[in-house]
Amino acid sequence: MRMYDIIKNKRDNKELTNEEIKFFVKGYTDGNIPDYQASALTMAIFFNGMTEKETATLTLAMAESGDTVDLSEFGNKTVDKHSTGGVGDKTTLIVAPIVASLGCIIAKMSGRGLGHTGGTVDKLESIDGFNTSLSNEEFFEQVKNTGIAVVGQTGNLTPADKKLYSLRDVTATVDSIPLIASSIMSKKLAAGSHTIVLDVKCGSGAFMKTPEDAKALAEEMVKIGKNNNRNMAAIITDMNTPLGKNIGNSLEVIEAIEILKGNGAEDLKYVACALASEIVALSKNIDITEASQLVENTISSGEAFEKLKEWVTAQGGKKEWIENPDNFPKAKYSEDIFAENDCYMSSMNAEEIGISSVILGAGREKKDDLIDMTAGIILNKKTGDKIKKGDIIATLYTNNENSLKSAKEKFISAIEFSNEKPVEIPLIYEIVR
Ligand code: URA
Repeated sequence: MRMYDIIKNKRDNKELTNEEIKFFVKGYTDGNIPDYQASALTMAIFFNGMTEKETATLTLAMAESGDTVDLSEFGNKTVDKHSTGGVGDKTTLIVAPIVASLGCIIAKMSGRGLGHTGGTVDKLESIDGFNTSLSNEEFFEQVKNTGIAVVGQTGNLTPADKKLYSLRDVTATVDSIPLIASSIMSKKLAAGSHTIVLDVKCGSGAFMKTPEDAKALAEEMVKIGKNNNRNMAAIITDMNTPLGKNIGNSLEVIEAIEILKGNGAEDLKYVACALASEIVALSKNIDITEASQLVENTISSGEAFEKLKEWVTAQGGKKEWIENPDNFPKAKYSEDIFAENDCYMSSMNAEEIGISSVILGAGREKKDDLIDMTAGIILNKKTGDKIKKGDIIATLYTNNENSLKSAKEKFISAIEFSNEKPVEIPLIYEIVR
């Protein structure tokens, strides 16, 4: 078999055989197929797509390209959630302790920030002492004792995706439905959980810009999971506007704590509870209304917050920081952004706002950059809000005073105002089960 013929077949819009797809994944992972041939194939896939069968084969071949996690000792109680990436999206920090407090087992691997989007591992590391690189033994021990552990992507899990994702990132082939579906689902299948709920983001801050594309991606991923005997659902949620009020690592942990204490921003609570309810309903095989009630109860009784403290303590983090978020260090510099007129905020570009927070130091511009855990943005006004001249729209935080000017310019260019209240965009477009 020759890689040249595989590229030619896809270029000519022919369906690739299982053997051809497996040959490519193995050869590329082993280093026998060079980047230039792999990038020619991914570009052909970008233009011509893949059939359901091809995407399923690609996913499984990538899932089996390295180690897999065996969670079978926990039976069918293991659950996972995955977001396709957004700005201000701290739902894992909220959903994980909620579902663990209700008896689900969450043994999860999460990522670091990517581009303008944040990552759970970076956020957790803003808690003093929190260890996101547990050994295998420590990871399983903690899951047995507490029902919850979240670590960074370790070892040799889906090496094919690691290589392909980096290649796609620099060859303009990220936003392809079969390539995203196989990338995400290969990692989820390899990570071993029985129930998987996906948060497929849609809008200016997401890979999928329209609800139609987001639905096609969600359906593809749900199908792949079900065909591999997983309990699956996908919630299509809005990412035109950042989620919640806080953007940036420790600021997001603080906001997650507020939600688990029964306070916090309504939009964030709504999306986090929808995700948690879907997980609980699927995992316990109960009605969604009953699951939502359980989720409400575990927040109002304080059990979910207690689970957060237990989780942070088990992973070496300072419990006192969770009990009293005033303990989190504060950025040295801050700047308020004021409204110049009476108006409504008519739109926010979530991606540009994410970039503004990266400029402040909350994300990495280069792979090895150090993150400023205290940096970020607190949004005081969001799309649809009425604004009076002189109101504070947002506050920027950083330890690098020089970043304030360009972060402020970026933030201001990302928001639009109008005299009319804008049409409301739903927070949840659809649930694919
Ligand atoms: N997240 C992933 O893990 N893979 C993609 O291709 C896109 C988003």
